[in-house]
Amino acid sequence: MAPMNHKPEVVDIYWFSGTGNTLLVARAMGDRFAQRGVMARLQQMEDCDPADVDASHTIGIACPVAAQSTYPPVWRFVRGLPDTDGTGVFLIDTLMLHSGGIVGPMRSRLERKGYTPLGAIEVRMPGNFLRKKADPDKTARKVEAGMTKARAFTDDIVDGRSNWRRCLPWEWLFLASCRLCYGRLGLVRKFFRLSVDHEKCDSCGLGEELCPVGAISLRDGRPEFSSECIACMRCASYCPEEAILLNGKDYARNRPVKAADFTDDNG
Ligand SMILES: Cc1cc2nc3c(=O)[nH]c(=O)nc-3n(C[C@H](O)[C@H](O)[C@H](O)COP(=O)(O)O)c2cc1C
Ligand code: SF4
Repeated sequence: MAPMNHKPEVVDIYWFSGTGNTLLVARAMGDRFAQRGVMARLQQMEDCDPADVDASHTIGIACPVAAQSTYPPVWRFVRGLPDTDGTGVFLIDTLMLHSGGIVGPMRSRLERKGYTPLGAIEVRMPGNFLRKKADPDKTARKVEAGMTKARAFTDDIVDGRSNWRRCLPWEWLFLASCRLCYGRLGLVRKFFRLSVDHEKCDSCGLGEELCPVGAISLRDGRPEFSSECIACMRCASYCPEEAILLNGKDYARNRPVKAADFTDDNG
């Protein structure tokens, strides 16, 4: 096993981000690693086969909290990582308020694959649904606080001070019930119903291009959502006409990055 306080030489941060909050904190970490003399590369999970991950580098997992857990593609990515002999790994998740089923179970899952847990933090960022109005100053302050926390976490990793709490016994049960929300019960899709305001939609096809799981298709020029939708809110957030509604209603979109940041090669 690698020592807990070894300074990473090269770090690959694999990020998944629905609406951009997680991408921002992953970038803040990448920049901070570079300032500390550590080479860091950002890799979008959607573009990566986890089996190809270079286990000679330190690995970072950056993801949003969703339904008290994280999105199914993130768990799939983690499941697909190669077994290692002590590769250092850290976790950073972004959330609005609270998460229950991710930090401990993620540590256990990675340890079982031979990874050395270097540290994990949860970073509060602006919510990306339900908001009727967004106060730009409050949003900017929250984002800055989140990025500051991400930079401090980076320093802790480099200096060997970070930690990752262990999994509590009941957290497996909690995680299993959270995952049912996406799985058989399909509760997430029931609570996050997307629809299109056809008066506003100009059939630009951007939603289809942005969707991380291929859940949007255009039929007769009109977007349709399949049951694959994981409610990441990307399409609704970045629709230039704000034509995608949540539960039939308009809400304040969360757009911390550019739509192109999800499709460009920005590793
Ligand atoms: C479907 C869905 C479920 C969410 N569940 C939670 C949750 O359980 N707890 C929480 O604090 N925030 C929750 N959030 C808020 C996001 O975790 C938060 O805004 C996050 O920073 C979004 O990151 P992203 O922009 O990278 O997707 C949820 C958001 C969505 C869209
Ligand atoms: S349809 Fe929209 S909300 Fe659903 S997974 Fe695709 S981009 Fe995310």
